[in-house]
Amino acid sequence: MKERFDIVVACDLKGGIGKNNAIPWRLPGDLKHFKNLTSSSTQAGLYNAVIMGRKTWESIPAQFRPLPDRYNVILTRNAAYQAPQGVFVRNSLDDALAWLEQGPVDQVFIIGGSEIYNQAIQHERVGLLYLTEVRQQFDCDTFFPDYKGFFQLVSSSEIQSENGIDYCFKVYKPNLLV
Ligand SMILES: NC(=O)c1ccc[n+]([C@@H]2O[C@H](COP(=O)([O-])OP(=O)(O)OC[C@H]3O[C@@H](n4cnc5c(N)ncnc54)[C@H](OP(=O)(O)O)[C@@H]3O)[C@@H](O)[C@H]2O)c1
Repeated sequence: MKERFDIVVACDLKGGIGKNNAIPWRLPGDLKHFKNLTSSSTQAGLYNAVIMGRKTWESIPAQFRPLPDRYNVILTRNAAYQAPQGVFVRNSLDDALAWLEQGPVDQVFIIGGSEIYNQAIQHERVGLLYLTEVRQQFDCDTFFPDYKGFFQLVSSSEIQSENGIDYCFKVYKPNLLV
């Protein structure tokens, strides 16, 4: 069977994930959670991979990209797109998944943005959805797709608070995943 990929997102109570190609809140605890989740490999010596849209890649401040200790894969339809050495460029989600499958890669995470999430949530290979629920409403121009019909809640953490913002970590699985 083909390997699954997981999805990681932080969204507000209306599904908002971004504004002006940036994340509208500052939650260091969520960034730490994201780093731990996407960096921790289940097999010694293997890296995980993160797949992201070109706009999400460009939204990461230059000093923080590529995301360390993970294979960074950018999706773009621009065949001439220039990425730094060691960063991989693919022209579709399926192309990226097929290409990663050939290499020594542990887990694969889809990390946004909205366009890529839209293609991922109903994909036949989708595994878990790791969703940080930011329990406020922000002014957003980019949204996570409506997922509730396809996923069921597996777990929810205690609510925590940072910078006056309450949030919690939720894990969902697709309805069809046993
Ligand atoms: N809160 C969160 O967890 C979170 C996570 C990630 C991102 N974000 C936010 O989301 C926003 C960015 O999301 P977005 O939807 O605007 O952009 P995006 O999904 O990051 O990137 C869109 C770009 O990806 C490429 N693309 C899309 N589908 C493709 C496909 N099937 N094959 C090849 N390339 C494909 C295209 O690049 P080309 O135009 O180059 O062809 C497209 O313009 C930002 O505000 C960011 O901060 C939030």
